[in-house]
Amino acid sequence: MCKEDGWLALLRPRLDCQHILLEPDQVHYCEYLSLGTLFSLVKPNAANAKRRDPLHPDEALFVTVHQVFELLFAQHIFELLRVRDSLCENLFQDAHEILIRVIKLTRHYSLLMGLLGTMSRDHFGMFRGKLAPASGFESEGFRLIEIYSGMREDSPYVVLNDKLYTYREFLDQPPSTHRATCLWTPRMTQACSEGSIYDAFRRALTKHDVEPESVGHLGHLLPRKVRSIALSLAAYEEALLGFRRAHRDIVEYQIGYQEGTARTAGVAYLDSVIVTARLFPDLKVGSMLLESRRSSVW
Ligand code: HEM
Repeated sequence: MCKEDGWLALLRPRLDCQHILLEPDQVHYCEYLSLGTLFSLVKPNAANAKRRDPLHPDEALFVTVHQVFELLFAQHIFELLRVRDSLCENLFQDAHEILIRVIKLTRHYSLLMGLLGTMSRDHFGMFRGKLAPASGFESEGFRLIEIYSGMREDSPYVVLNDKLYTYREFLDQPPSTHRATCLWTPRMTQACSEGSIYDAFRRALTKHDVEPESVGHLGHLLPRKVRSIALSLAAYEEALLGFRRAHRDIVEYQIGYQEGTARTAGVAYLDSVIVTARLFPDLKVGSMLLESRRSSVW
């Protein structure tokens, strides 16, 4: 409570957030960040259409962590588009700086995922049954990150029952008894046609008469600006794999080897994606990573 609350409140009314401002049009933290709206959007209860009262207190953490991920995914996409456009305009230094931000953001996901390891299996079990068939599998944000990074419709994505599925083949399946939601969206088709950071990098290599496959061997022969982008891409691929592994480990801890809520084989599915899916398949990421750690600026 403000000391001068009595007379001041008459002149300057309290906002919904309960603060009193000096000037009515001053920039104010709660409004700038839309905090009222933001908090009203955390509504945990998978069993109740109004989403009131969590089935267990940990369901609030579960919802908040997913929402934070979605906000960060949106920022991630925004930054990927900036990297791609900078590469197209030959602004390599800008592209490199933003790519470092993208790497840091991606590394952050593993830590964030770890929060869900503080939830016991029993407590998760108290609301998990009500989540099906919903799953992070349905996150369009994550798919746009994959596409704007370098995943193509015909990229190998997963092997199930000895059959290799390409990215689009796997995701673009109509709803059926095995798949509650068709995961391919028009926005993903649009993203594929717009091009990725990897497309832009490959074009830049062509201008320098360099084949993507030889980037890992050419090392110091590459123009410095091209090399630093190649090293950053290698570190980015590793960071995204780190996120996939952190997610896979939480899944194993929480549900063991059960089927996922979206009806995949759960950990077995995620393991296959980790082995099969690559953003930058032509780059010799492994050898470049050793070098990127030595010359690391991040
Ligand atoms: C207790 C925590 C979690 C569990 C048990 C879990 C479980 C699963 C499972 C089993 C799948 C495979 C699809 C299915 O059958 O449902 C999956 C996919 C996925 N989850 Fe989670 N998840 C958890 C947390 C998260 C979080 C916090 C995110 C962040 C957005 C997330 C994002 C994803 C994504 C993007 C996929 C698709 C991965 C791919 O297709 O390669 N998950 N999850």
